[in-house]
Amino acid sequence: MTFALRVERWWGDLVTGLAPYNDPVETAGRALELAAAAYLQRQDDLHLLDEKRSLEPDWFQRPEMVGYAAYAERLAPEGTGLAGVAERVGHLKDLGVGYLHLMPLLQPRPEPNDGGYAVADYRQVRADLGTMDDLKTLASTLRADGISLCLDLVLNHVAREHAWASAARAGDQRYRRYFHVYPDRTLPDEYERTLPEVFPDFAPGSFTWDEELAGWVWTTFNSYQWDLAWDNPDVFCELADVVLFLANQGVEVLRLDAIAFLWKRRGTASQNEPEVHQLTQALRALARITAPALIFKAEAIVGPTELVHYLGQGRHYGRVSDLAYHNSLMVQIWSMLASRDSRLATHALGRFPANPSTTAWITYLRCHDDIGWAIDDADASAVMLEGWRHRSFLSEFYMGAFAGSTSEGLAFQHNPATGDQRISGSAASLAGLGSALAVAQEVTTIEGFEEATSAVDDAVARILLGYAIVYGWGGIPVLWSGDEVATLNDAAWAKDPAHAQDNRWVHRPRLDWACVLEAREDPASAIGRVYTGLRQLARVRASLPHLHASVPAQVVASPEPGIFAVLRRHPVGPLLELYNITETPQQVPAWWVREVGRINVDQCVDALNGYPPNLERDGSIHLSTYQPVWLVSDRS
Ligand code: GLC
Repeated sequence: MTFALRVERWWGDLVTGLAPYNDPVETAGRALELAAAAYLQRQDDLHLLDEKRSLEPDWFQRPEMVGYAAYAERLAPEGTGLAGVAERVGHLKDLGVGYLHLMPLLQPRPEPNDGGYAVADYRQVRADLGTMDDLKTLASTLRADGISLCLDLVLNHVAREHAWASAARAGDQRYRRYFHVYPDRTLPDEYERTLPEVFPDFAPGSFTWDEELAGWVWTTFNSYQWDLAWDNPDVFCELADVVLFLANQGVEVLRLDAIAFLWKRRGTASQNEPEVHQLTQALRALARITAPALIFKAEAIVGPTELVHYLGQGRHYGRVSDLAYHNSLMVQIWSMLASRDSRLATHALGRFPANPSTTAWITYLRCHDDIGWAIDDADASAVMLEGWRHRSFLSEFYMGAFAGSTSEGLAFQHNPATGDQRISGSAASLAGLGSALAVAQEVTTIEGFEEATSAVDDAVARILLGYAIVYGWGGIPVLWSGDEVATLNDAAWAKDPAHAQDNRWVHRPRLDWACVLEAREDPASAIGRVYTGLRQLARVRASLPHLHASVPAQVVASPEPGIFAVLRRHPVGPLLELYNITETPQQVPAWWVREVGRINVDQCVDALNGYPPNLERDGSIHLSTYQPVWLVSDRS
């Protein structure tokens, strides 16, 4: 009965989503058979979860929600696999975590496999981590503790060793059509004229010659990651079945990896094509029919105007992903910290199109990937900057090559043709903590000691300020594993030959459990302050209804370039967030707080510490070095 009702409700979405195919109704019929089979196989506890989530559709939007992302084997005690992840539940709960993204853990090809993003079998767990049953057990253990499991669905490509690719290599024509294969360079050359290169350093070009295939196969990322031909409805049905299969293992959030690249079109960058959203809508409709507890998260690292489409604009409103990475916010935070100026961020984030109130951003300071300086030229020129110059300033700054910078990032994928250069490095190393600690260890004079201590303090404050913006945005703030203890760059990242070419491994070390224990024991140490600060941010966040993701974050032009300001207007009252993005104390006039923030400075508290804000004699608010302030009216 429930199934029939859901089909009635979502059939229209399914069929219209399948419009890119010749016979959408036929494909929808095939997909529905898969959905019916998966529905029958779905366990009772998951059916119950479906009911529960339908009664609380905003479960992922709530202020209590904090996320955490990690590689299973780098989070769990060494050698314990998926079972060991459960041992970290206490740690995650301590940080307020209700959502855990475990990095790719389905069976990949042997190394190199792009950290698991080259999947050889979607229905098997990596043998060293456990089995599919272990994954199921972990999902339900986490759920019992209030943590939703998020897994990657790598749907743009499979490994060259995946059964479909092997069949294609063996000459099976049906499977050859699962990929974009060309007998010669004519079409690849034509496409490449407008395709950007993702990994120009270690995987130049977007096509790879395969001897067995006797053809050029489309490989947007590495040569061993073969792009799937989503214009083939059989590919749609295969992946739809994988979605339903993973939902039935108890996965609650699917991260749609590299989703922007799904549909190819000559003469374009083959990213963000309208068909991507149509097909996502069809996949979503199927998931809603079978497993409404499952939600989608789009991993589209694209410009603001394209990005909002992944959360549903126009006819796709409410029909595609519920979550998407806020890449721009992340970039703007690092940009503000480098330039000590909020004007670019205020302009760029201020003109961000609105996202549907039923969706949420994934906000983050760092993740497993590099940082690409997604600063729009038009945004830059609106605040009298030159886009390319600012982007190259950011690269130099975070590599520590700019005067006064203490960052220790590494250049990633320098592209001489475009001048583009991205950055790898952990949050703490980019914030200058590594260099500050190194200096502190070597000082011999009192002045030197004071200077070094204040450099450490500044770095800690920068990390916490960055995270305060991330936690204060609404949506799901996601902590990258290790950031809770200010993990520095991994000096040994290149020792593993399979990783040696890809310096993103510099910020992907194993979670140092001794550091976690030390941070808990010594809250005054640098790592202790970061740990305590993040825990506190999660607690305060949970107490503020203003931070529900349905309430828009409104960026407001602040009276000082050194202050970044965000206003959230909720029926319970306003929340005005002020961030001093510099090491110099700042003041914000009382009239501005009243007029713009709708808050009286003498009748408010800073929710971050529960006290009234520090006021200057003239009533303006005083913000110390890198201080975040979350002002709410004091009604008591
Ligand atoms: C996504 C992942 C990245 C990976 C790429 C190819 O962008 O975040 O790590 O290299 O997809 O799967």
